Amino acid sequence: MNEAAMSLDGKRVVVIGGTSGIGFAVAALARQLGAEVTIASSRAANVDAALERLPGATGGTIDLRDEQSVARFFEPLGAFDHLALTAGDWDVPMFDAARNLDLTAAREGFAVRFWGALAAVKHGSRSIDPDGSITLTSGMLAHRPAKGAPLAAALGGAIEHLARGLAVDLAPVRVNVVCPGIILTEHTSQMPPERLQSYLARLPLPRGAEPAEAAITYVYAMLNGYVTGQVLPVDGGGGLV
Ligand SMILES: NC(=O)c1ccc[n+]([C@@H]2O[C@H](COP(=O)([O-])OP(=O)(O)OC[C@H]3O[C@@H](n4cnc5c(N)ncnc54)[C@H](OP(=O)(O)O)[C@@H]3O)[C@@H](O)[C@H]2O)c1
Repeated sequence: MNEAAMSLDGKRVVVIGGTSGIGFAVAALARQLGAEVTIASSRAANVDAALERLPGATGGTIDLRDEQSVARFFEPLGAFDHLALTAGDWDVPMFDAARNLDLTAAREGFAVRFWGALAAVKHGSRSIDPDGSITLTSGMLAHRPAKGAPLAAALGGAIEHLARGLAVDLAPVRVNVVCPGIILTEHTSQMPPERLQSYLARLPLPRGAEPAEAAITYVYAMLNGYVTGQVLPVDGGGGLV
């Protein structure tokens, strides 16, 4: 690739979930590569705090659970080039065995990451440049299911197959999915350290990734104009073991 191909100069990048963790790292890298960046998430205080850490970016609130809020966010935004969706809520029962699942709560588990992502695609894709892209987020549990977490496997798989469908439906706009293993974000810092360590120790690369390492994959999906409908793992080799 030549230098211009590695630049986001003059591009507008929107990161929903960009106030924290992986999304913040995507926003920071896009900014570093010259993009005009807009970050968004549901809590205004998080947006304000993230904007303080990311000079030159703009931001707004969006609640992916609420389609009206999604429409309100995109309407005044105007044309842009790339959309990355990293938003995820954690107060949903992703880690319950099937026999114990509260099905009403389980349905809620799809509200932000699946239905919310689709709402953002529905309203956001109307303003994306035909040469632009959308990048969704799944998770390794879709490929290496864990006992007691069937819903997490289903949710990741649903997002990945949604992206395949969207890549055809929205072409020439490209649609891909980043599939993270363990990325060391605000969220993983709250996981029980023993559980985290026992997972990481068996990986070919026995550590968690820095958010910046995940961010490179989202930016790759924005920059490479010939990649669509793909699942891009950042998993330390977790898919091999
Ligand atoms: N970190 C990992 O190891 C890992 C592994 C596999 C998959 N993933 C996936 O990667 C994504 C990001 O993970 P992360 O670790 O970066 O999480 P994170 O640090 O908790 O960030 C999640 C972001 O989503 C936003 N958000 C939550 N609910 C929202 C809503 N209703 N509407 C709009 N935004 C909302 C949060 O901000 P507000 O609270 O302000 O809304 C925050 O900006 C998640 O979908 C997760 O499933 C992460």
